[in-house]
Amino acid sequence: MTNDHTIHVLGISGSLRQKSYNTSLMRSVYKVLPEGMTLEIADLAALPLFNEDHEKPFPEAVAEFRARIAQADALLIATPEYNSSISGVLKNALDWASRAPQQPLRNKPVAIMGASTGHFGTARAQLHLRQILAHVGALPLIKPDVLVPYAEQAFNADGSLVDDKVRAALQKLLEALADWTRRVKM
Ligand SMILES: Cc1cc2nc3c(=O)[nH]c(=O)nc-3n(C[C@H](O)[C@H](O)[C@H](O)COP(=O)(O)O)c2cc1C
Repeated sequence: MTNDHTIHVLGISGSLRQKSYNTSLMRSVYKVLPEGMTLEIADLAALPLFNEDHEKPFPEAVAEFRARIAQADALLIATPEYNSSISGVLKNALDWASRAPQQPLRNKPVAIMGASTGHFGTARAQLHLRQILAHVGALPLIKPDVLVPYAEQAFNADGSLVDDKVRAALQKLLEALADWTRRVKM
């Protein structure tokens, strides 16, 4: 948190797909950011596959990603659901971020959300994500849930959010993340 108490959030979308609904969901957050909060979105495309042989030193893209997490006051993760779990892309990023010596995920406030084309809107992926976040010692926000089922109906062709209920849910999520971050950090 900077001296003016602005909360800097790093957004992580677990999909590399150009027209990803999860990345669109993340971009929609810019329109509902509470006052005193900023959002920057990380790009996971540059991260190599995790390899324990390549930790000393970390590859440059990994070191930069870890530093951005360390500097952020909070994280916002948009997870796709692949085969009832999170995407490999997201798991790979979290594995890199989890490693010693700094362990930048530890004690980091995290809000989660997700969009899928299926019926459950990433409910199963989000449960797995919560399990991983607990293991690495992050501080995930419990409520509200933001689940976007049938995501193709929530966004138009250019990726703009057209579902007012999802927009309202995003706003509540970001307000709750601001409160949670202030409680945890003060
Ligand atoms: C490998 C794979 C597995 C998937 N498994 C699920 C699933 O378990 N549940 C679900 O709702 N959608 C599933 N889907 C559909 C995704 O929800 C859909 O592809 C979605 O658009 C992915 O997120 P994105 O738009 O951010 O890339 C799967 C898609 C892929 C490619």
